[in-house]
Amino acid sequence: MQSNQVIVTGGAGYIGSHTVVELIAEGYTPILIDNFSNSHPDVLIGLERILGKVPELFEVDCCDAGAMDRTISDISKRGNISGVIHFAAYKAVGESTEQPVKYFQNNIGSTATLLDAMERHGLQTLVFSSSCTVYGQPAEIPVDESAPILPAESPYGYTKQVCERLIQDAQASRPEINAALLRYFNPIGAHPSSEIGELPLGHPNNLIPYLTQATAELRSPLTVFGDDYPTPDGTCIRDYIHVVDLAKAHVAALRWLQKQSGVCEPINLGTGTGSSILEVIQAFETANGLAVPHQLGSRRPGDITAIYANAEKAKSLLGWTAEKSLKEALRDAWNWQLKLGTSD
Ligand code: UD1
Repeated sequence: MQSNQVIVTGGAGYIGSHTVVELIAEGYTPILIDNFSNSHPDVLIGLERILGKVPELFEVDCCDAGAMDRTISDISKRGNISGVIHFAAYKAVGESTEQPVKYFQNNIGSTATLLDAMERHGLQTLVFSSSCTVYGQPAEIPVDESAPILPAESPYGYTKQVCERLIQDAQASRPEINAALLRYFNPIGAHPSSEIGELPLGHPNNLIPYLTQATAELRSPLTVFGDDYPTPDGTCIRDYIHVVDLAKAHVAALRWLQKQSGVCEPINLGTGTGSSILEVIQAFETANGLAVPHQLGSRRPGDITAIYANAEKAKSLLGWTAEKSLKEALRDAWNWQLKLGTSD
């Protein structure tokens, strides 16, 4: 019999794959469910190099109710399932405004399908991958979990709000459920081994993958989206968190949930420190001894001015705090880019 199995939907993705590593380090057996719709099977090679074995993966679409039911049934016959971590989702803000239906179907559909399958198989523990985007531009920063949920700026953001609500409602109807709604700030960096990292398909929309590709001369210079925001240097402020720290928080959340009886808690995962885009560029240059080709440009529609986390709840409930520095994250991000390749 297998023990301590944890189902990880989207386990081949960026945050999912890093979480798989940390789960194994803490004695869990992650079972991945991923259809590679937004990830690459090569992730399994990187995971094998780190772990010395390939984690088990079911190539299944999380919106396929029949397949999800069969998969969870098969996994549960082999031993206990300690919990489910649900990463599988699309996450490109811009794309979501062009293809909202795809985002609704996939992000909300997969969460509803999963909750249904969990109920049928008596699974009670769920860690959900949410986002600080649910806060919009909060009135006060650092933002804590009691801040109101503001109307979403994008269909992507709306899907996260709806999924949080769906899980809250499911928990209210099945009080035996324990759920953590993990609100990520800006995950960056890669595993220090450079065996896994972010693999954006096509043109990267997020700051760090674009920055590393521009520095590698694979893209035109980075455009800083707006330098006229009401911040000290005029550029937007975010809370950049190392993906390995974020991954560890999922294991801490799982452990905590296993000791609860009937909770559904939103929990911020950030460092508690805000950095402007120009500060990030400077930190990258110092960390790696390189110049980042960049230019100032106009604002990107939908961007908020500044957000960073009050991460006290994660500390008090989960005993977790982010440990890695911005520079460490930016060094790991660059080493990962070197592994993926540069123009040389
Ligand atoms: C967005 C979402 C967040 C989501 C995350 C991951 C919002 C408000 N935030 O975060 O919920 O989880 O994406 O997909 O919807 N920037 C540049 N030049 C670039 C790229 C980005 O200047 O080429 C700037 C942006 O304007 C922003 C900062 O860098 O100020 C970070 O941008 P990005 O990495 O895209 O993340 P967010 O928009 O903060």
